[in-house]
Amino acid sequence: MAGRFIVLLGPPGAGKGTQAAVISKTLQLAHISSGDIFRENLKNETDLGKMAQKYMNAGELVPDDVTIAMISERLSRTDCENGALLDGFPRTPAQAEALAEKLAERGEHIECVPYISVPAEELITRLSGRWTCRENGHVFHAQYNPSKKDGVCDIDGSALYQRDDDKPETVANRIRVYMDQTSPLIEYYKENQLLFEVDGTKSIEKVSELLLQKLNA
Ligand code: AP5
Repeated sequence: MAGRFIVLLGPPGAGKGTQAAVISKTLQLAHISSGDIFRENLKNETDLGKMAQKYMNAGELVPDDVTIAMISERLSRTDCENGALLDGFPRTPAQAEALAEKLAERGEHIECVPYISVPAEELITRLSGRWTCRENGHVFHAQYNPSKKDGVCDIDGSALYQRDDDKPETVANRIRVYMDQTSPLIEYYKENQLLFEVDGTKSIEKVSELLLQKLNA
């Protein structure tokens, strides 16, 4: 049986991580977040983490060769045998080509690309109010999705922090970089008839419902 490989596309703060947590659990797929893997390496002070840090803090993309090698290794693990939900990868045309090639080598292909669309003004509000859990990356929002206890993750009780790259000047650059380097993938996947768009300005629950309706169809 072919695996299900789904690519979640959308600008920084669109809700990819929030939705990926729900979808991967519901569809029982491995959740691969390139940002989370970089942050884990940063926390553990690995060579990869040290190298990625300067790009992440500036809101720039980590170079393609490094990112592609990291995700290829992740996809080769046993929990991806039946598919995976990719969040934050691919982000450039070269990454998209590499992913298609990697999957083709194992007789697989991308099933679909849900694109969560949210206007830029809303992205800034979302990222400036985001609180992330130190241990497992669970995500909250000061107004839209507050944790029950201030500064504490509802799910694992660890401390919540604000990401360094959520500072206003870095956010502005992340959105610019997204527009320049990642948004061309919208057309690319449209041409390949893989893309469907979901209105990411709806509530978290409504966006999950819209995504799952399509993915279960
Ligand atoms: P990464 O971690 O992937 O960041 P991103 O794509 O910028 O995405 P975010 O995690 O910021 O946002 P999200 O869409 O997941 O939104 P979230 O669910 O948190 O990448 C970080 C960095 O790593 C990059 O800048 C780059 O340097 C490097 N990197 C990563 N991948 C790379 C790659 N492939 N190539 C090269 N470099 C790479 O939601 C945001 C907030 O909004 C939360 O507070 C949430 O509670 C709230 N929220 C979510 N949905 C809703 C809703 N419907 N209504 C109201 N609030 C909502």
